[in-house]
Amino acid sequence: MSEFDGLAALVTGGASGIGAATVALLHERGARVAVLDRTTDGAHPQALAVRCDVTDSGAVAGAVAAAAGHFGALDIVINNAGIGASGDVSENSDEEWHRVLDVNVVGIARVTRAALPHLRRSRHAAVVNTCSAVAFTGLRSRALYGASKGAVAALTLAMAADHVHEGIRVNAVAPGTVDTPWVGRLLAASADPPATAAALRARQPLGRLVTAQEVAHAIASLASPAAASTTGAIVRVDGGLTSLRV
Ligand SMILES: NC(=O)c1ccc[n+]([C@@H]2O[C@H](COP(=O)([O-])OP(=O)(O)OC[C@H]3O[C@@H](n4cnc5c(N)ncnc54)[C@H](O)[C@@H]3O)[C@@H](O)[C@H]2O)c1
Repeated sequence: MSEFDGLAALVTGGASGIGAATVALLHERGARVAVLDRTTDGAHPQALAVRCDVTDSGAVAGAVAAAAGHFGALDIVINNAGIGASGDVSENSDEEWHRVLDVNVVGIARVTRAALPHLRRSRHAAVVNTCSAVAFTGLRSRALYGASKGAVAALTLAMAADHVHEGIRVNAVAPGTVDTPWVGRLLAASADPPATAAALRARQPLGRLVTAQEVAHAIASLASPAAASTTGAIVRVDGGLTSLRV
């Protein structure tokens, strides 16, 4: 028996980066996996790909129902879809604040709300949210993004408390800077990509970026039935960024 045999998982933002690595790992370990993403190009060929924007409540309800209907169950939800923002507190418009919070925070509420009836029927129900190191450490030019991920940290604990008596575990991972297409875009937009890449590596005590596979490993560990006593945990996968001074 593989670790996730018989379990059905849904991964938001599962077509790229951390989400795609998580889909591949859960599939490899025996889960049936659905990708819920606003673009499903590049989704794992063995996954059920459902195109859906997490800011659209109706679309989310339909997508979660489609995945649960296809598998006949839904046991694991990985709330990973997210977008970035840069600038200090004055540098984003009200519209941008609402847009980023809508994806990164309200998106988690929408997806989990739609999945709850299915999770309540599972014997191994688990939710894992993708938080960030910026929830715990003040980094420059990350006011809006940091606020959104601070909210994800608090939401994870609140959800864990609300659903612990229903047998639904809720945890999060908090990655440092991860080598994904997201960071590729960030570098491409910088004035001096090699210097920016070197600065990002130097910021991590480990001296390199985190890999998407390393974050996927932590997500899968938290989602695993073997982690049955782990709830309300936020696991840092950040090369020491938030906890070490070296
Ligand atoms: N890359 C990093 O350094 C880093 C660090 C800490 C946390 N994170 C978090 O990890 C998560 C994944 O990031 P990544 O680096 O893999 O980025 P990525 O851009 O490679 O992947 C993000 C995925 O989310 C999807 N997505 C975005 N908005 C969506 C929406 N409204 N509805 C549905 N899908 C949507 C995108 O289409 C994409 O497939 C995000 O929540 C991000 O905040 C990333």
